[in-house]
Amino acid sequence: MMNSKIYLPIRQFVTRAANEVKEKAIPGPKYYPFLGPINDILTMGKAEKLHLTIDEYHRKYGPVFKTKLGSTDAVFISSPTFIRSIFNHEGKFPKHSMPPSWLYFNKKHSINRGLLFMDGEEWYEHRKIMNSILMKDSQWTETIIRVTCDNFIKKIKRSFNTESDEVIDNLEDELYLWSTYSILNLMLGSSTHEQSDREFDENVWKFVTSAKQIWTTSAKLLTIPPAIADKLHLKVWKDFEKTVHESISLSRKMISAFNDKNVFNCSKDGLFMKLKSHNLSDEMMTQILSDLIFAAGDTTVSTMSWCLHKIAKHNEIQSMMRKSIYESDFDYETPLVRAFLKEVLRLYPVAPFIGRILDTEATLGAYKIPKGWFALTSQYSAGHDPQNFVNPEKFSPKRWLRDEKTEKLHDFNASLPFAMGVRSCVGKKIATYQIHTLITKILQEFNLTSFNKDEVEYTLKLIGLPNKKILIGFKARQ
Ligand code: HEM
Repeated sequence: MMNSKIYLPIRQFVTRAANEVKEKAIPGPKYYPFLGPINDILTMGKAEKLHLTIDEYHRKYGPVFKTKLGSTDAVFISSPTFIRSIFNHEGKFPKHSMPPSWLYFNKKHSINRGLLFMDGEEWYEHRKIMNSILMKDSQWTETIIRVTCDNFIKKIKRSFNTESDEVIDNLEDELYLWSTYSILNLMLGSSTHEQSDREFDENVWKFVTSAKQIWTTSAKLLTIPPAIADKLHLKVWKDFEKTVHESISLSRKMISAFNDKNVFNCSKDGLFMKLKSHNLSDEMMTQILSDLIFAAGDTTVSTMSWCLHKIAKHNEIQSMMRKSIYESDFDYETPLVRAFLKEVLRLYPVAPFIGRILDTEATLGAYKIPKGWFALTSQYSAGHDPQNFVNPEKFSPKRWLRDEKTEKLHDFNASLPFAMGVRSCVGKKIATYQIHTLITKILQEFNLTSFNKDEVEYTLKLIGLPNKKILIGFKARQ
């Protein structure tokens, strides 16, 4: 046997040499330094089709490719193993990136925001509190969520002709109201169904109307630096500023109603009082809670819209899910309903890219990604890749069921719609329970029919959304 004093240095030398030989330059589209930000427009194309451009680059350059986003070095990553590795390099205080228009707005108006915008120790301390309320013990949320879903069903029955297959024209508004009331009722607690206030309801409606426009106006600003749009007094910046001001001021009004005993009496078991028991200042409570309303809104509305569209389009899946619900004695979360939501989020992720600024250098196969680079995990590409999912374009919820042999799932990291690690979605449990429950209740009460003649496609307005109105007839079941 070789003496270890000789063997170890030889092995270290060989390993180093092998790594040096193996390490490759990261491929990617050409970057012309003299063009500066115009590179972004040339390489990234239309903002609403960015997921398709990135997907094409993955096909051309493989699972890791580099580019520049503005002046920042960035890599896009689509392989599930490498995606996992990125989340392992996020450090104790993971840093993600928020749209420049939002950051510029907050700075210009000196507005402090909630969890999504916090970093470092400040984020860590408040995230710990929110984890204890929303993640570790989320059972308290279930009855309140069920009451809010019941209200949605009653409203549909009351306001629309469910005797026939009449299309619900403003389904998106109804879903926005459902999703906003879901989080507001959770703040209020179990006494929610005993309390109401007209002015508050008016503010909720105004908030929904204004928040709906935020993504459209933010998306228009993706290709223009916000400071320039502001200096030039462009309409696109003025619209964005007006909408965000309105929505923030309305969400703050709603939170202050919870703090006013003359309006509401928040129950001890609600999010508002639970958060208050951690001795946060009124201002910090407002920051965190009003941003929670934003984070909860569009994400659940977009996902629920896709869910209803898919239920209405796929009659066989609709019947199978209904059967699973009846056979489970009205479980709100049958394995098939859970699988259905996973499949919807695989094909139509709300966040097609989830970014982390690397806390340490990351080795991804033959590539070394330097510390401080911006790593974006390409959720859309990973979810649509035939290497990860057999027949990826087929909508097949059953692929997520453990005993299903066909269309086997290869790697669960290939679809991470809520991200992973310590900065993943803090509302994941609430969102999934909310969506499972509403699907279950709708299937019990209605037969759904789709009236969309043309294909509904996935489009980007900062988040992934259907590119046209979802048209569905709700017919009451006998
Ligand atoms: C289908 C619905 C939802 C999806 C797909 C979703 C997805 C995500 C993703 C991917 C992130 C991580 C972003 C990043 O790391 O850069 C995130 C963060 C977050 N989500 Fe959700 N979300 C959903 C619903 C909700 C709901 C209902 C709430 C509130 C109850 C919520 C509150 C938040 C908050 C506060 C953060 C920031 C967490 C932090 O920075 O520590 N989300 N969400």
